[in-house]
Amino acid sequence: MAKTALVTGASQGIGKATVLELAKHGYDIILVAREPERLEAAATEVRTLGRQAYAIPTDVQDPAQVEQLIQRAIAQVGTIDVLVNNAAIYYMGPVEEASLNDWHTILDTNVWGYIHTIRALLPHFLSRKNGTIVNVVSIGGLDPIPYQVPYTTSKHALTGLTKSLRSELEPKGIHVCGIYPSFIRTQLYERALFRGEDAKNRFEFMYKAFHSPVLETPEYVAQTLRHAIEHRQKDVLVGTAHFWTAMFHLAPAVMKPIVRRVFGMADSQRNLVR
Ligand SMILES: NC(=O)c1ccc[n+]([C@@H]2O[C@H](COP(=O)([O-])OP(=O)(O)OC[C@H]3O[C@@H](n4cnc5c(N)ncnc54)[C@H](OP(=O)(O)O)[C@@H]3O)[C@@H](O)[C@H]2O)c1
Repeated sequence: MAKTALVTGASQGIGKATVLELAKHGYDIILVAREPERLEAAATEVRTLGRQAYAIPTDVQDPAQVEQLIQRAIAQVGTIDVLVNNAAIYYMGPVEEASLNDWHTILDTNVWGYIHTIRALLPHFLSRKNGTIVNVVSIGGLDPIPYQVPYTTSKHALTGLTKSLRSELEPKGIHVCGIYPSFIRTQLYERALFRGEDAKNRFEFMYKAFHSPVLETPEYVAQTLRHAIEHRQKDVLVGTAHFWTAMFHLAPAVMKPIVRRVFGMADSQRNLVR
């Protein structure tokens, strides 16, 4: 019998690459994101690979919508084997420019969104003493990246969530995996919150950077993620994430000013205590 995976943020980027990768390897898919048309288009691509696909538009920030999603999904497919938590919003700008609303958008999507799906699906996994939870995190969940404080706060929370969940759920037969990409060629900038005087420059910088051919592809992340599911891997750094994380740990005094300059833009040149 085919296995089924539920993937959030499945309409583009890493989420879409993941649903296609899993479908190629025999999974039926529940696709989750907010905007229905793009989600349905991704579901159609899954079906052309010969697998079942169910697009269920849901805002993962809303626990009631997520409860309904899980009920509908189980009613539709019977059993869910894999949950991939992936939907997230990025922030770039000085921390003092983040409004309370911005903080909520980032944490409600990137942290609560993951908690909502896990809470809703966990009884199903526990009753079967089986299941895989994959949390797509980021090197921002391991390293101190300035000018992305709400985002890196959310990703550090996910590192804690992933590791502590694993510690508790592993003896109950549930596999918990954290995936840590570095910079991946997606349209992450489309929904990102760019703040501060340099907001326009920040958008342009990210737009250019995210079109660079040297960045790893979402398909590469998806292959790594699928391999991690199959081999029940725990914390998986994706490609160049090994390099960046090693640099942060081995040479923080070198890395911190470089990263401040790159992400801080004009702000990092002004008002500094020298
Ligand atoms: N790209 C990178 O460089 C990079 C690096 C490290 C880690 N990551 C992580 O990888 C994951 C995917 O990133 P990506 O670059 O593929 O992002 P992306 O291209 O911006 O795609 C985000 C997806 O999430 C969905 N989404 C956003 N808010 C949602 C909500 N409230 N409820 C349901 N779905 C929602 C979006 O669809 P709708 O707007 O229609 O809902 C879209 O399908 C994220 O966790 C990100 O932090 C990315």
